[in-house]
Amino acid sequence: MPDTLEEQLTKHLTDAHSIEMQALQQLLVAPRMARDPQLARAFREHIVETEEQERLVRERLEAHAADPSRLKDIAGRAGGVGMVLFARSQPDTPGKLVAHAYSYEHMEFAAYELLSIVAEKAGDPETAAVARSIRDQEAAMAERLAAGFDRAVDASLRDVAPDDLGRQLGKYLADAFAIESQALQLLEQGQAIAGEAELKKIFSDHLEETRSQQAAVRARIEARGERPSRFKSVLLRVGGVNLGAFFGAQPDTPAKLAGFAFAFEHLEIAAYEQLQRVARRTGDNDTARIAERMAGEERAAAAAIRARFEPAVDAALRAQGVSA
Ligand SMILES: [Fe+2]
Ligand SMILES: [Fe+2]
Ligand SMILES: [Fe+2]
Repeated sequence: MPDTLEEQLTKHLTDAHSIEMQALQQLLVAPRMARDPQLARAFREHIVETEEQERLVRERLEAHAADPSRLKDIAGRAGGVGMVLFARSQPDTPGKLVAHAYSYEHMEFAAYELLSIVAEKAGDPETAAVARSIRDQEAAMAERLAAGFDRAVDASLRDVAPDDLGRQLGKYLADAFAIESQALQLLEQGQAIAGEAELKKIFSDHLEETRSQQAAVRARIEARGERPSRFKSVLLRVGGVNLGAFFGAQPDTPAKLAGFAFAFEHLEIAAYEQLQRVARRTGDNDTARIAERMAGEERAAAAAIRARFEPAVDAALRAQGVSA
């Protein structure tokens, strides 16, 4: 029985490690894409932190993994759930870069909170302490990014002619619509594999809310005289989320699902924070108000999901036949 818990701990460490490897790849290109000195500096400083995080996690992995050849294999594989967010749509503006990075930092935050919970249960306070301190660094980086939402919008709109701002707002609305489509898929599939009653209820409640959010975004798009055919091309571009493919085969689904959903809510928060700012600049206060309200709804959903991290870990362990 303890062996299985140990195995779970190693899995969480492995995931954390591949998330850091992926983070490093992203951070190396981010300063160039930021088109803003302050944002670029935030990314560069986080490279240093991330290198240290990777080292700390590797150290904890080495303390646990019996087979060093397997460890090498693990270290070389930059996978992990976080990839999904970046692989789907390459950020093409500083605003999207910051939105994705903001979501990614929350993916990391979730990974370390889950790791600390599992480490405590496995009787490894050292790993738990490392996990909590890295978690706090990820939270601080996320805060720096959030403080840069204005700058990100500035950088994205810098070369946009004043009479082209409306068209830009249309793009942000179309992206919000596409993100809500992904959210619908995530929540529908998430309900089915949640494995934890409260988490499932949070997903189904937020699914209802998401439907009305998407309807509100659609109404704003239509109020601006855009054509519905626009939606389809955006959907094709952004693509869908197929949770089954990513999580279906994995036994520790409920915990990872909760972490992924938490990160996704933060992608939505960033999208609405920016939509709100772009709408204000074009004088579209109706859209700005709706975006502000929805950012609050996404925050509430994220907080509700985070509150289920520990029960989700328990559900994952139960599914593994581990009683902790
Ligand atoms: Fe990190
Ligand atoms: Fe990070
Ligand atoms: Fe949401």
